[in-house]
Amino acid sequence: MRAIVAARAGGPEVLELREVPDPEPGEGEVLVRVRSAGVNFADTLAASGRYHASPPPPLVPGLELAGEEVATGRPVLGLVRAGAYAELAAVDRRWLFPADGMDLEEAGAWPLVTLTAWLALHEVARLRPGESVLVTAGAGGLGSATVQMARALGAGRVVAVASTPEKRAFARRQGADDAVGYEGPFPAVDVVVDGVGGEAFAHALAVTRPLGRVVLLGASSGTAPAIPGFGELRRRNVGVMCFSFGEFRRLEPDRAAALVAPAVELLRQGRVRPPLGRAFPLAGAAEAHRFLLGRGSMGKLVLRP
Ligand SMILES: NC(=O)c1ccc[n+]([C@@H]2O[C@H](COP(=O)([O-])OP(=O)(O)OC[C@H]3O[C@@H](n4cnc5c(N)ncnc54)[C@H](OP(=O)(O)O)[C@@H]3O)[C@@H](O)[C@H]2O)c1
Repeated sequence: MRAIVAARAGGPEVLELREVPDPEPGEGEVLVRVRSAGVNFADTLAASGRYHASPPPPLVPGLELAGEEVATGRPVLGLVRAGAYAELAAVDRRWLFPADGMDLEEAGAWPLVTLTAWLALHEVARLRPGESVLVTAGAGGLGSATVQMARALGAGRVVAVASTPEKRAFARRQGADDAVGYEGPFPAVDVVVDGVGGEAFAHALAVTRPLGRVVLLGASSGTAPAIPGFGELRRRNVGVMCFSFGEFRRLEPDRAAALVAPAVELLRQGRVRPPLGRAFPLAGAAEAHRFLLGRGSMGKLVLRP
């Protein structure tokens, strides 16, 4: 089969389209013909050897996909630890979901951010109806899914943070009541979902209300969030919680799979549907990574083998 291989650790330039052996499904795995594979910021980290939840290069990147089960032709969505940037992928049955009626050319971009947004808001932050939510990089893949998920969960005011007027307009179209630049001012909120880190985290923390929760998912700015110590967080009455869906799946796979079932149902009903920003052929993986790292993208990116 054809696949994108990061033969050594590096930037987008290390991604090459190659002929490689077909994957052999192991115990509990199913072979899927990939129609679309979502491109995530984490894939750029995996290719550079800096992603905690994937094996180091050499690897075939890609954490999510949509396609058909080879044995039955059944349409499916799936999550993997690596290997989705390929014509075929072996997927653990626990992370394979029915995709009847879904557009398989797009749906490979949906599961990772939808399920992460659900877990971040519902399980980690324990969002309650009416609570306000601030989402950094609110026009990005995770951000746009989080804005939609906050709406689906009955949040009160939802505010996106994004770097350009186009991105702020995009975030509003996903359901944000308002969208602001990183220079602020940010409104006071109950819950923050942050995948940017650095100064964005510091500003968001500063406006989190007492009894508020800040969920830290990543650091796309390149600077890890500087989490204050006990004294300051107690004085502020704010909780800072870190979450990695990849690690949760590894640590407690059965529990994680059971907890995401309602989010899969929201996807199935179309109540949360991460917007597609741009599609690339499989050979365009390096271009897709450059686009993401260059901060150009809105919504999700997919590769179509
Ligand atoms: N913990 C988990 O389980 C989990 C799961 C999924 C994703 N994540 C994390 O969530 C974050 C977003 O992931 P994604 O795949 O959805 O990507 P994305 O949000 O579509 O793209 C990254 C966004 O980060 C913002 N950004 C700020 N500073 C940046 C910089 N120096 N370089 C590039 N981008 C910068 C940009 O939006 P603006 O221009 O608007 O700032 C950019 O569009 C990442 O940190 C990722 O690792 C974590």
